[in-house]
Amino acid sequence: MKTINLDNLLELPYSVEEAVNRLRINIGFLGSEVRKIMVISSIPNEGKSFVAAQIWRQMANVGTPSVLLDMDLRKSVLKGTLGFKGESKGTSDYLAGSATLDDVLCHTQLENGDIILNTSNVMNPSFLLDSKRFQGMVDELASRYRYVFIDTPPLDFVSDGERIGSLCDGAILVVRSGMIPAKMVRDTAARLERCGCRILGVVLNRASAGTGGYYSKHYGKYYGKKYYGKYYGSKYYYYGSSSKKKKKEK
Ligand SMILES: Nc1ncnc2c1ncn2[C@@H]1O[C@H](COP(=O)(O)OP(=O)(O)OP(=O)(O)O)[C@@H](O)[C@H]1O
Ligand SMILES: [Mg+2]
Repeated sequence: MKTINLDNLLELPYSVEEAVNRLRINIGFLGSEVRKIMVISSIPNEGKSFVAAQIWRQMANVGTPSVLLDMDLRKSVLKGTLGFKGESKGTSDYLAGSATLDDVLCHTQLENGDIILNTSNVMNPSFLLDSKRFQGMVDELASRYRYVFIDTPPLDFVSDGERIGSLCDGAILVVRSGMIPAKMVRDTAARLERCGCRILGVVLNRASAGTGGYYSKHYGKYYGKKYYGKYYGSKYYYYGSSSKKKKKEK
């Protein structure tokens, strides 16, 4: 397995780091059976890749062996946003049979954080997702790592998420604050449940920090720094207790 360097694996501002930290702790409470976790949302740009990468980074930083699997086979952004400048074969090469797992699995500067990037996009990955090779890949990763975090395309646009979700122990549903109607979130949740994918929790991403108080003081301090431009907090709700709160936000 080769080692790669990800130039943008930086710590986030305090308030965002804290929000991801709470998410990490809550994932720890889900029990030892939960290993394969898909990160999904209804539509593009809600923050799936951001949340998946940050939770993977923090989990690895506290010493929990974790792998981030880039399953956005159509329009992957992780290679760019994480700042990988080299060449590597990736997820679609493995699924197409032109690379082995050890060709695509990369160790990073995080002692406990490995990654599989998708380095060549494909137009129609459905046949790759339906293959036994994909199921085998996810199971093999779950046997090697405590957590497999899977970044996916949006559920409302393509059916990839349903296939990926059917092989996972559950999903974290990312909802970008103020962006989509509550009904759409409920429809996404229902679709996931229909394909047998349990919703482990809902992240309300890019939520406003509100005014005043400790939280916003720290948030304000870092507002507008480099890399992600502006940082926004995230809140995590367990599914079940989340729907009321989500409705209030809308
Ligand atoms: N909490 C946040 N604070 C600041 N920026 C964020 C936050 N979450 C996401 N972003 C930014 O918003 C943009 C979209 O996020 P991201 O690429 O993670 O969305 P996505 O849901 O994976 O999109 P796609 O469906 O296209 O894959 C990125 O530039 C990302 O850096
Ligand atoms: Mg993405």
